[in-house]
Amino acid sequence: MLKLGIIGTNWITDQFLEAANITKQWQLTTIYSRTKQRAQEYSEKFHAQEFFTDIDEFFNSGVFDVVYIASPNSLHYQYARQAIENDKHVIVEKPAFTNPDEFAQIEALLQAHPQVRLVEAARHIHTPMFAAVKKQVASMNQIQGATLTYMKYSSRYDQVLAGKTPNVFSLEFAGGALQDLGVYPVYTAVALFGEPNSVVYFPTMIATKADGKGVAILRYDDFEVTLNFGKTSNSHLESEVYGLKDTLVMDNPAELTKAVYYDERQQKHHLEAPVADNSMVGELQDFASLLANPDDEEQLNKYQAWFKLSRQVNSLLYTLRQSAGIEFPADNR
Ligand SMILES: NC(=O)c1ccc[n+]([C@@H]2O[C@H](COP(=O)([O-])OP(=O)(O)OC[C@H]3O[C@@H](n4cnc5c(N)ncnc54)[C@H](OP(=O)(O)O)[C@@H]3O)[C@@H](O)[C@H]2O)c1
Repeated sequence: MLKLGIIGTNWITDQFLEAANITKQWQLTTIYSRTKQRAQEYSEKFHAQEFFTDIDEFFNSGVFDVVYIASPNSLHYQYARQAIENDKHVIVEKPAFTNPDEFAQIEALLQAHPQVRLVEAARHIHTPMFAAVKKQVASMNQIQGATLTYMKYSSRYDQVLAGKTPNVFSLEFAGGALQDLGVYPVYTAVALFGEPNSVVYFPTMIATKADGKGVAILRYDDFEVTLNFGKTSNSHLESEVYGLKDTLVMDNPAELTKAVYYDERQQKHHLEAPVADNSMVGELQDFASLLANPDDEEQLNKYQAWFKLSRQVNSLLYTLRQSAGIEFPADNR
C-alpha cells in the first residue's frame, strides 16, 4: 500500500480519495489543512492516522510516501518544492505549475532527487476511453483538424456576479477558464497531435480580470485545432477530430464517456472502453503502478512520457496566456 498525504480538502480531494479506495492500492495516512477544525473533521471522515496544520511539520514528520496537492493553482509550486526536498513523491492537480520558469525549477529539483517522481493529475488522459480515442486518431489516414469543446457554468461564477473573487477566478491564485477547464482540451490536443507551431487565445474577460471563457486556435503544419472552453456558460456541443471522409466524435475532452468513429462510408463504430463511475480511477491505477515500481523500465517510460506531456502543456498554457495578455502575480515572483 502506498501511504498518502493530502493538501487541500475541497470536493476534488473527496473524489480522489474515493477513487484511491476503489483501486485498493492506497492508504490515506496524513492530512494537511490550514485550520485544526477542518483537519480534524476531514481526518475523521476519511479515517486518516494523523493531521497537521503546519506545512513544515506535515512534510518533516508526516508518515506518508506520496503527497496529493489539490490547493489553488498558484500554491502548487511551493508545496511540490517542499515535497521533493523531503523526498516525497508528488501527485499535483492540473494545471501543475503556473509558468515554464516554475516548471524548469521543479524539473531541476527532481534531478537533484532522482528517486522522487512527480505526476500531474490530468485524469482524462489516464482513462481507457482516452487510450481508445488516441488509437483511433492514430489510425486515421489524414487529419484535417479538430474542434474540442468543454464549457460548464461554474457555481462560483455566481459569486463573481455578486462582486466577489473566488480563487478559481482570481489572478492571484492563477485561476481563469484557460487554467481551469481549458487545460483539458489543451492536454487532449497535445496528446493527440503534439505541440502546435503557433497559437492564439481570444478570451472573454470577466470582472475579476481573469478569463471566464474563450476560444483558442492551435496551428499545426497541415491543420488547425480550435478549443472552445469556459466557466461562465454551458455548452452542449460534442468534440470532433476531422479526417478526410471520416470523423471521430466524442462527448467532451474532460469527461470522455463516449466516442464514435464515422468511417469514410459514414458507418458508425462505437469505441469500446470501460468507463469508471469515478473518473479519477484510471490515474490512480496508473500512478500506483508507477510509484510501487518507480524504477521498472516500462513504468519509467510511461513516467517520462507523462512528464514530457506535462511540460508541453505547461508551456502551451503560458504561450496562450501571453497571446491574450493575461499575467499572474506568480509570473513575476
Ligand atoms: N481533476 C479535476 O477534476 C479537478 C476538479 C476540480 C479542481 N481541480 C484542481 O484542484 C485544485 C484545487 O481546486 P479547488 O477548486 O478545490 O480550489 P479551492 O477550493 O480554492 O481550494 C482547495 C483547497 O485548498 C485550500 N485552500 C483554499 N484557499 C487557500 C489559500 N488561500 N491558501 C492555502 N490553501 C488554500 C483549502 O483547504 P484547507 O481549507 O483544508 O486548507 C481548500 O479546500 C486546483 O488546482 C484545481 O485546478 C481538479
